[in-house]
Amino acid sequence: MSNLITLGEFIIKNQQDFPYAKGELTRLFNAITLASKVMNSQINKAGLVDDLMGKVGTQNVQGEEQKKLDVYANKIFINALKARNEVCGIASEEEEETIIFENEVGKNGKYIVLIDPIDGSSNIEVNVSIGTVFAIYRRISPVGTTAVLADFLQKGRHQVAAGYVIFGSSTMLVFTTGNGVNGFTLDPSIGVFYLSHPNMTIPKIGNIYSVNEGNYAYFSDKMKAYINYCKDIDATTNRPYTGRYIGSMIADLHRNFLKGGIYLYPDSAKAPNGKLRLLYECNPMAFLIEQAGGKATDGQQAILDKAPMEIHERTPFYAGSKEMVSELENKLS
Ligand code: AHG
Ligand code: MN
Ligand code: MN
Repeated sequence: MSNLITLGEFIIKNQQDFPYAKGELTRLFNAITLASKVMNSQINKAGLVDDLMGKVGTQNVQGEEQKKLDVYANKIFINALKARNEVCGIASEEEEETIIFENEVGKNGKYIVLIDPIDGSSNIEVNVSIGTVFAIYRRISPVGTTAVLADFLQKGRHQVAAGYVIFGSSTMLVFTTGNGVNGFTLDPSIGVFYLSHPNMTIPKIGNIYSVNEGNYAYFSDKMKAYINYCKDIDATTNRPYTGRYIGSMIADLHRNFLKGGIYLYPDSAKAPNGKLRLLYECNPMAFLIEQAGGKATDGQQAILDKAPMEIHERTPFYAGSKEMVSELENKLS
């Protein structure tokens, strides 16, 4: 282990990726890694510790049932970010309204964070991988004032950093500051993240497709045709593809990062804009995917070029290996 670079060392070495002021990136990521370690220790105990399993009995703004771990993770990440004095506002899947820090320290924060504290909530109780995903922007409004809605509604293209934590067979933090993608694995015995996946790149083409095919009957004719294309036999294009669907977007996309493949969450008769949220699910993953040489689209345009209208808006989402996503776009056009 001694020759491995720790996350702390890596961030200090790459401070120039955050050209605004020394130490800001370090403090922001310290907050996120600390919260991730707390989450890791709690998730590993889920099932033993009663208070973290099961439902709270409330729904979030999207009408989804909140799990105890959703609410707990939301609190942990918000508190950790608040304590670091760099952030003027946070938007979370679990909070109907944006959280704007109105004290002097908050007004002087330069960054906005948008977060899905637990992605894949339905997998908590069945011991399947879940994750956390976040996007970081510089605010548009002047430093020294309270943050405004426009600070949150920036195009994904303007992200200064994004990342995800996957709580899987090991716990990893994968992030970008616009200069490639790097993955760090947690050694839980000493609580240190080590650089284990430097300069991650998504294979240009793969042979895995990943979609909730149970929704097939609700898909458009073009989407149905694409799903059937994935299952057709054609050795020259690696088909039929292999089907894999975990039901935690982060875990499904993490697999694509390493093995190549395409992830689909289409619009449908049941969900006219798809299910996934643009600001704190699709944008950060799209930034990471583009940085790794992949592609992310809503079928018409790059996810990162979409102009957001509201905090919790949804979008169809297709992402992964560049050639596979381009192929899908052709078939949908
Ligand atoms: P969340 O747990 O944050 O609400 O997100 C769940 C999302 C995503 O992780 C996953 O890919 C998708 O919902 C699964 O949805 P279906 O069960 O409709 O396939
Ligand atoms: Mn999610
Ligand atoms: Mn969530």
